[in-house]
Amino acid sequence: MTQRYFITGTDTDIGKTLATRALLQAAKGAGWRAVGYKPVAAGCRRTADGARNDDALALQADSGIRVPYEQVNPLALLAATSPHLAGRDEGRTLDPAVMTHGLEILARQAHWVFIEGAGGWFTPLGDSLSFDQWVADQHLPVILVVGLKLGCINHALLTAQAIRQAGLPLAGWIANDLSATPHRRADYLATLRQRLVAPLLGEIPWLADPDTAALADFIDLGPLLAHSREDVNAAERA
Ligand SMILES: Nc1ncnc2c1ncn2[C@@H]1O[C@H](COP(=O)(O)OP(=O)(O)OP(=O)(O)O)[C@@H](O)[C@H]1O
Ligand SMILES: [Mg+2]
Repeated sequence: MTQRYFITGTDTDIGKTLATRALLQAAKGAGWRAVGYKPVAAGCRRTADGARNDDALALQADSGIRVPYEQVNPLALLAATSPHLAGRDEGRTLDPAVMTHGLEILARQAHWVFIEGAGGWFTPLGDSLSFDQWVADQHLPVILVVGLKLGCINHALLTAQAIRQAGLPLAGWIANDLSATPHRRADYLATLRQRLVAPLLGEIPWLADPDTAALADFIDLGPLLAHSREDVNAAERA
């Protein structure tokens, strides 16, 4: 059974891509076929091969199977802004069926699919669609990346509550240092551990060179494996 996880974050620019790469490397290191998926990317370069987004390229590079760019990122938008605005700029409507179809294609090829969202939890995709609705439609368990900085406790708890209210499991969370000396790191971690009712899957330190660093050792996939066994047991009981 393929494990699919949606990776969201406390904000934009707080380490979702870095954490997703860490999850991919950890799964790959444990011998699984793991693939990254960035269904919607806003902020692409025009290239001879088409629009390319740095997050999607990074996920493609850290995937344990070779997949073409268009399978990692089916909806590529040029403007680096909220996807609903980037889509409007190009006169495009973002079709959730395309996102779903893309996920099915990858899930057929891999044991694990790690799906990176865009921005935060409630990112709009169109006039009447937002990312969280698609995640809920897909019944995806969610991994929350918390970028450790002043204000992140509130953002983390708000996001966790929204995930719960969507009826989705918070499968785990990852703490990511956004500087070499995050604001009251130990106190923030202790508070988040106490208040986020989900396992801590890893702590990623501030890295001098995040693009080339080996990331697998920062992640513990154990709670996700336990979570997937619970899913299988529930499915068998149903
Ligand atoms: N632990 C870290 N150590 C060093 N640099 C980091 C760390 N976490 C994030 N960064 C850097 O901060 C920037 C934002 O990180 P990242 O791209 O992973 O965030 P994101 O949440 O995926 O952003 P977006 O919302 O644009 O998708 C990147 O340049 C990344 O290399
Ligand atoms: Mg990203």
